[in-house]
Amino acid sequence: MITTDVLIVGSGPAGGAASLFLSTYGVDNVVLTRYGWTANTPRAHITNQRTIELMRDMGIEDQVAAKGTEHALMGETAFCTSLAGEEIGRIRTWGTHPRRLADYTEASPTLPCDLPQTLFEPILLSTAAERGARLRFNTEYLSLEQDEDGVTATVRDRLRSASGPDQAHPGDTTYQIRAKYLIGADGGRSKVAQDIGLPMAGSMDVEGSMNIVFEADLSRYVAHRPSVLYWVLQPGAQIGGIGAGLIRMVRPWNEWLIVWGYDITQPAPVVDEAMATEIVHNLVGDDTIDVKLKSTSVWSVNHMYAQKATVGRVFCMGDAIHRHPPSNGLGSNTSIQDAYNLAWKLSLVLKGHAAPALLDSYDEERVPIARQIVERANKSRTQFGQIFRALGMTPDAPPGRTIESRKDDTPEGAAQRDELRTAIELKDYEFNAHGVELGQRYRSAAVVDDGTAEPAYDRDPELYYHPTTWPGARVPHCWLTRGSETVSTLDVVGKGRFTLLTGIGGEAWVKAAQAVSEHLGVPVEPFVIGPGHELDDLYGDWARAREIPDDGCLLIRPDAHVAYRSSGLPDDAAETLQQVLSTLLGR
Ligand code: FDA
Repeated sequence: MITTDVLIVGSGPAGGAASLFLSTYGVDNVVLTRYGWTANTPRAHITNQRTIELMRDMGIEDQVAAKGTEHALMGETAFCTSLAGEEIGRIRTWGTHPRRLADYTEASPTLPCDLPQTLFEPILLSTAAERGARLRFNTEYLSLEQDEDGVTATVRDRLRSASGPDQAHPGDTTYQIRAKYLIGADGGRSKVAQDIGLPMAGSMDVEGSMNIVFEADLSRYVAHRPSVLYWVLQPGAQIGGIGAGLIRMVRPWNEWLIVWGYDITQPAPVVDEAMATEIVHNLVGDDTIDVKLKSTSVWSVNHMYAQKATVGRVFCMGDAIHRHPPSNGLGSNTSIQDAYNLAWKLSLVLKGHAAPALLDSYDEERVPIARQIVERANKSRTQFGQIFRALGMTPDAPPGRTIESRKDDTPEGAAQRDELRTAIELKDYEFNAHGVELGQRYRSAAVVDDGTAEPAYDRDPELYYHPTTWPGARVPHCWLTRGSETVSTLDVVGKGRFTLLTGIGGEAWVKAAQAVSEHLGVPVEPFVIGPGHELDDLYGDWARAREIPDDGCLLIRPDAHVAYRSSGLPDDAAETLQQVLSTLLGR
């Protein structure tokens, strides 16, 4: 029987990332996917700052940058009657507005980029394999059984079953894999989630949608307003789908994906070449363009999240626990971030550094996020309605209102223009929701409460990221110096180990970290940040962000979230730290 520490079912963003993180931490894992290769259509593409930070921690940010479309080309998002038709409004997206660019660059050493799933998955998987993961393609998960010591999965070799009974083993196409833990990263129709009976809330198939992937040189319609998204507001664009018709850039400016809705109460349309070409010509607004169709598919919009992600030794992640439309670009990002949350915990437990109870915090931390993003993405989808109303395209719009009437020199025309501006501004909650993208704060047994109240949000919590070192939050990014090098606080933490950050006067914390690390056998790397030390805060930004005095300390988890914070030096720092880490690790 094949044995492994962690069996990962699914090689999409969640499974691929889980394998990458585990392999990097030195954890033995096997990944299987029912298909012969990775995603064959572009699917998810917006790659947010947090995801790129994780790739930076893995040392492969350069690979993402090399394949992705850069931030500067992502943001002139247009609303139009067609690409060639009238432009109704524009919104700068993904932090490209000068004011928002300041927020985004201040918050992270990275910027978002556009990386289609077809290009991202091979980066995740190939790096995982280089680091020791064992990959099995054409292998279908069938069932699992778990006991006190592990999980046994039955899988089918689809290559053998496709080519008839193997000569050496006639009729034998199924076999078993024994693992200490199993990750169900098998997507929106997860069989693993179903087999372990995860309770789900919400509904599947709330709207119908289709994807049309095609090649066409559309430079003349987009070069003056480079963006990854062009929204088409035509009659019919509100039916089904993701709020409006969409022309999405896959590769600038000659590969595209159109998303167009259909009425879910009707049978799904058969999108043949003629229909697809007609939709492309219609949304582009030019039937002379040469369209080379690459693929079409019909899919449905879901509004569903798991209320629990773990049963025993089986953990689900990605679309298996959050199913929602692509609005806000949260699908693959959240899937990868789920994996990052679980991987370090599994690694510590498997190495004997933490009790299995640490794994309970995966549910406590990620289940609320699953719900949050499903609700957010679905709300964003419906908020297109206000734009359609402002253009007179909904039954509740004021009588006489049309797309043309917004040009009128009348009080009604002025009111309409106002309403349109407000409706477009509301889309910031989809396209510039920096708080949702970066502001996740955890509450769980893997975070030690320091007795302080959660810091209030002084701006909108969904639109704006609020840096804080409040335990459970991601450590704020600040630029520090290391000799002639400039490094982010996020470059100092991570790498699969705990980090302790203190300042001048906090040297006792350093000794404590070394002693506790040795005693528990868990790596804790301490840093004093200040003049005369390896890391200095020449800009003073860290002193402004850290929310503790020089002799306080922050204990940072391997996933860059604050585990513990002390606002000063206790009498016995080693004893304090020992208690904190023991509690956290369940020892
Ligand atoms: P994902 O579905 O990517 O991967 C599941 C993996 O499990 C696959 O490797 C599959 O082979 C494997 N698997 C499933 N069952 C198995 C079994 N029984 N045995 C073995 N392997 C099994 N998002 C977005 O932001 N923008 C977009 O435009 C789109 N568009 C889009 C189009 C289509 C057609 C789909 C299906 C999805 C999207 N998405 C999207 C959503 C996005 O792709 C999604 O959020 C992520 O892929 C989720 O990643 P996961 O790894 O969780 O699942």
